[in-house]
Amino acid sequence: MTALLEVEALEISFGGVKALHGVGLTLATGEILALIGPNGAGKTTVFNCISGLYRPQSGQIRVAGRDILGLKPHRVAASGIARTFQNIELFRHLSTVDNLLLGRHLYLKTGLFSGMALLGPWTPAAKEEMRHREKVEEIIDFLDLQAVRSQRVGNLPYGTQKVVELGRALAMEPKVLLLDEPAAGMNLEEKHDLRIWIEDISKLFGIAILLIEHDMQFVGELADRVIALNYGECIAQGTPDEVRSHPDVLRAYLGTPSAEVKQ
Ligand SMILES: Nc1ncnc2c1ncn2[C@@H]1O[C@H](COP(=O)(O)OP(=O)(O)OP(=O)(O)O)[C@@H](O)[C@H]1O
Ligand SMILES: [Mg+2]
Repeated sequence: MTALLEVEALEISFGGVKALHGVGLTLATGEILALIGPNGAGKTTVFNCISGLYRPQSGQIRVAGRDILGLKPHRVAASGIARTFQNIELFRHLSTVDNLLLGRHLYLKTGLFSGMALLGPWTPAAKEEMRHREKVEEIIDFLDLQAVRSQRVGNLPYGTQKVVELGRALAMEPKVLLLDEPAAGMNLEEKHDLRIWIEDISKLFGIAILLIEHDMQFVGELADRVIALNYGECIAQGTPDEVRSHPDVLRAYLGTPSAEVKQ
């Protein structure tokens, strides 16, 4: 498998704290790679470096062979990387549909919500807007968001907001999707649906997925490979079972090599 996303030797410090020390990973098309580790291990910092929010002091980040390190977040997004956030980042006062449409901003040539209203339905701007709306409708169907399509996102239950955020990321038609704790705060039924959607996003749409998740059962069911971080360093990698039972991982989570990582 050729790597779609390649991350090498990331180093970043905040003040005296080394948040990442030599972290690297590769992700191939169609692969699901999970990033695990205790609180403060550096998982979200890896995402922030890849998506251009943080600039690492050294290291390399490539998408499809192209160097993206140092690009602004919107340029990284244009290279094919979309993400969700540990703390949901949506426009709370806008509807589900409008949040997804805003995920299409990468592709906009003429500006949203303009063409049809102002210039009539046959202008290039209106045709472009229709294409964006069609894509958004596909995602709303796929994620089963019809019932909440017109509701303000800020009024939706937490689990549904997380699905809307996944939809906004999908609306960007990424090659690589970074999901930061997508199942956190979800109930069992929501987690079940989410697992199936992530599988479909990977297998049907061919999108490579990098997943941060504390729920080891969820990780075990989904991930092809797992990388464990602790104090900004990679301490283990392999299959979910290999990583879950790795002594350094057990020690990192529980301070003892003999206990089992929470299932
Ligand atoms: N902008 C920042 N300024 C200062 N320190 C930061 C910043 N971002 C991250 N850190 C520090 O880097 C370390 C890694 O944080 P990070 O958020 O990546 O952890 P995490 O593995 O995502 O943890 P969690 O599971 O709690 O989300 C922590 O010590 C954190 O305090
Ligand atoms: Mg985090």
